[in-house]
Amino acid sequence: MNNNGRLAGKTVFITGAASGIGRAAVVKCLEAGANVFATDVSDAIDQLADTLESVDTNVLASRRLDVRDAAACEEAMTDAIRQFGEVDVAVLAAGIGYSRPFEAMDAESWHELYAVNVDGVFHCCQAAIAIMKSGATERTWDSAASIIIISSIAGQVAEPAASAYASTKGAVRSLSKSLAKYCAGHDYKIRVNSVHPGVIDTPLLWADLEATGAAQEAYESVCAAQPTGRIGRPEDVANGIVYLASDEAAFVNGAELVIDGGSTA
Ligand SMILES: NC(=O)c1ccc[n+]([C@@H]2O[C@H](COP(=O)([O-])OP(=O)(O)OC[C@H]3O[C@@H](n4cnc5c(N)ncnc54)[C@H](O)[C@@H]3O)[C@@H](O)[C@H]2O)c1
Repeated sequence: MNNNGRLAGKTVFITGAASGIGRAAVVKCLEAGANVFATDVSDAIDQLADTLESVDTNVLASRRLDVRDAAACEEAMTDAIRQFGEVDVAVLAAGIGYSRPFEAMDAESWHELYAVNVDGVFHCCQAAIAIMKSGATERTWDSAASIIIISSIAGQVAEPAASAYASTKGAVRSLSKSLAKYCAGHDYKIRVNSVHPGVIDTPLLWADLEATGAAQEAYESVCAAQPTGRIGRPEDVANGIVYLASDEAAFVNGAELVIDGGSTA
């Protein structure tokens, strides 16, 4: 899919940008003409530009960011402003998985999941709103800023094999809707939406497949269980992110964009 020009003039701030869905969002947003400020807790973020094909370094900046750290989220957002003058879109993709049985889960793992998947979204939403609302007078609702929270279908339907993870994704799904109305109520001209990927081929998925002890077999059985016979690609989700980031989605607010090949239909 060619996204050329759809995000021209916009600056997109992305968390979890070194891998999987976040990394695909970097590529698609650059292709769509955006400036991209890419962040991740992993050292791999330092090599991001080198791993992308012929990227113009005037439009891509990257730095490390641990979303568990509220002050660091604010600093990173300020850094993006320093670099590009504005943040129009925030894509919150940083996340970790956990798919051991609920009864085997210890409190430390529970809190760590919440620290990244929920607190991280909270910190970035606060930092993004603080910056985006200051541009409210120059924007109309047809060119509003956009916060895109990467939840999961596990935040919408039962996921007995990953209950705790699913609960984090339900929390940010709910937060997204409330923030959409909160920002509209204050006329901040910020849209807030959640994206709900199904099974997507990323390192996060492969960590779960490896944990079964028979990753390839598990992969094939997951594919066979999908309505279209395949799991999703990170680019499938990134195309939805570009749509929500663009002004084409001007009347899309507080929505849940499901990208799962029909698995929850
Ligand atoms: N892969 C799937 O099947 C799937 C399905 C539904 C939802 N999701 C969600 O999509 C998002 C992206 O996942 P992915 O599949 O691309 O995984 P991934 O592991 O490929 O990428 C996640 C990225 O988040 C980063 N990250 C982890 N902890 C962080 C922290 N504390 N601060 C900043 N960055 C941190 C990692 O370093 C990594 O680069 C996650 O929120 C995940 O829950 C994934």
